[in-house]
Amino acid sequence: MQKGHSAVLTGLGAWLPPRVVDNDALSQRLDTSDEWIRTRTGIRERRIADPDTSTVDMAVQAGANALRSAGSDLVDAVVLATSTPDYVCPASAPQVASALGLSGIAAFDVNAVCTGFVYALATGGGLIAGGMADRVLVIGADVFSRLCDPADRGTVPIFGDGAGAVVLRRGLADEPGALGPFDLHSEGDNADLLIVPAGGAKQRESDDPRDHYVTMHGQAIFRHACARMAESARAVLERAGLEIDDVDRFVAHQANIRILLATAKQLKLPEDRVVANIGHAGNTSAASIPLALADACEDGSLQPGHRVLLTAFGAGLTWGSTLLTWPDVKPG
Ligand code: ACO
Repeated sequence: MQKGHSAVLTGLGAWLPPRVVDNDALSQRLDTSDEWIRTRTGIRERRIADPDTSTVDMAVQAGANALRSAGSDLVDAVVLATSTPDYVCPASAPQVASALGLSGIAAFDVNAVCTGFVYALATGGGLIAGGMADRVLVIGADVFSRLCDPADRGTVPIFGDGAGAVVLRRGLADEPGALGPFDLHSEGDNADLLIVPAGGAKQRESDDPRDHYVTMHGQAIFRHACARMAESARAVLERAGLEIDDVDRFVAHQANIRILLATAKQLKLPEDRVVANIGHAGNTSAASIPLALADACEDGSLQPGHRVLLTAFGAGLTWGSTLLTWPDVKPG
């Protein structure tokens, strides 16, 4: 790619399952309450996929909406961020591409759990920067509710299902929508802080059915999330030669409203610049950033010209950030 060129965001799509599960509904089957969930997480309700709706189904819906928003079905690659693929093997992205009528193009999954969308943006941008693609469909989709033990009040209230997507095209580094710089990190030593112990190639089966569900050390994750997202946000701003005051909208992974506000406080970022849709969507893992972008476009809080800081943290551990100036793009 010639100097001065970049991957530019040119389409946005979102999709949430229609079934709304509010906190009162959860309180009827778990030892919890609407008050506890709202005050500890900021979540009022979440969307839960019906049993016959899979990650591929949701990704196809969000992908189709992003292509409509971009005004063209033409892409050279599909990068799907997910930690809940339909199968352990094969990856889900090829099925998404085929269902979108894009059979034949490059398609693969990226698994960085809740940081997946930022990693997938970097990967899609890298395909464009490396001259391997002119246009890339980047999707984040997760049906994380399926990884939650239905009896676990520590995880069930937090997670929701959904999908979001963007289309990237080759463009100029100084035009609205241009992505970058990026800041990406991982720390595998802390993999056990949020893990599904069984079902993968290391331990296919377990005598304890709970091993097939997510185990989460919530308080440790909380502390890491705040510290790492703040570090990464500072790093990406420094790389771009910007200050926190230059950020108009902070669109971070929607894990917990307290994590979002604590991170903003560490960054000395005014709360009114924090985009939050966790109240109605919950934590949708790799889908949360594009879903938050779509909601902010719909409610008018994200406008063309706003400088947007995207930051995520997830299991792995993984975390990362990027920047863009919001282009004249609306959800399809
Ligand atoms: N309802 C009622 N009480 C509850 C519930 C519940 N749903 N869950 C826990 N409690 C109780 C606990 O048992 C504990 O009781 P005790 O004091 O009698 O022992 C009390 O509430 C406090 O529990 P904590 O775990 O200290 O609560 P905390 O304020 O830390 O909130 C939470 C828990 C919401 C999980 C928080 O730690 C958190 O959000 N952590 C980050 C989780 C996260 O973001 N995960 C996703 C990461 S991204 C990814 O990669 C998927």
